[in-house]
Amino acid sequence: MTPNYLLIGRGRLATHLFHWLPATGHDIRHRWSASLDPREDLLPRATQCSHILIATSDRKIPDLIQALKPLNKTLIHFSGALTDPDAIAVHPLMTFPEQIYDLSDYVQIPFSLDRDDLQLKDLFPNFENPSFVVPPKQRLLYHALCASGGNLSQLLWAEVEKIWSTKLGLPADLLRPYQRRCLENLIQNGASSITGALVRGDQQTVKNHYDVLQGTPLKKIYETFEQELFQ
Ligand SMILES: NC(=O)c1ccc[n+]([C@@H]2O[C@H](COP(=O)([O-])OP(=O)(O)OC[C@H]3O[C@@H](n4cnc5c(N)ncnc54)[C@H](OP(=O)(O)O)[C@@H]3O)[C@@H](O)[C@H]2O)c1
Repeated sequence: MTPNYLLIGRGRLATHLFHWLPATGHDIRHRWSASLDPREDLLPRATQCSHILIATSDRKIPDLIQALKPLNKTLIHFSGALTDPDAIAVHPLMTFPEQIYDLSDYVQIPFSLDRDDLQLKDLFPNFENPSFVVPPKQRLLYHALCASGGNLSQLLWAEVEKIWSTKLGLPADLLRPYQRRCLENLIQNGASSITGALVRGDQQTVKNHYDVLQGTPLKKIYETFEQELFQ
């Protein structure tokens, strides 16, 4: 049977899915959002669909699973951190901001499932995306690592850009080639691609950096990186 979907949520991921799924030939039959639609519309819409996609905040997912479980539908959520025996975790290993992506970007996104008795294609028949299994016991670590590498480095760059533009008066666009190259080099050559005063052992330069960063959040972060990652 070809699945048809109820999409729950109106946030970032739901907005991407609303574009991405039809673009790959998947049928979103209904949509529902707690903040837009009356609660009494949820079950009638869910009844008409074979698969229910819960793309809302992690904290709202368990209650929705409990409310929908009696319908015996295929319940899917997209959280990387949460597991629930009554739903399948299908986490897209990607960051989804407010702006949607091109289809050529979507097709490359890998998915992690929390079980090995079914394939991504059983849930989304037209997806050719890579997929892999991270079992329930390891999902929190898996998600913490994604957040550490992705969200934390974005936060760090956002702070650098803020000080760059306010204190140096320079446009953040000047940083783009450097940002891209840092990430490209890491992807190509791993930790051996890292350069700079810490790696060279130029302690005086590092101390001068601490002095000039005094009064900004970057000083503590820099010190912690040195203590935790270089000793
Ligand atoms: N964004 C990502 O990068 C990403 C990546 C992988 C997995 N995920 C997973 O996807 C799920 C949803 O995450 P998300 O990032 O899409 O969360 P989000 O953007 O914060 O949206 C979560 C919920 O907040 C409410 N909301 C968001 N925008 C709103 C608006 N403009 N007006 C009113 N209400 C609004 C909606 O609640 P109601 O629907 O209840 O009204 C929405 O479903 C989570 O399980 C998350 O772990 C997200």
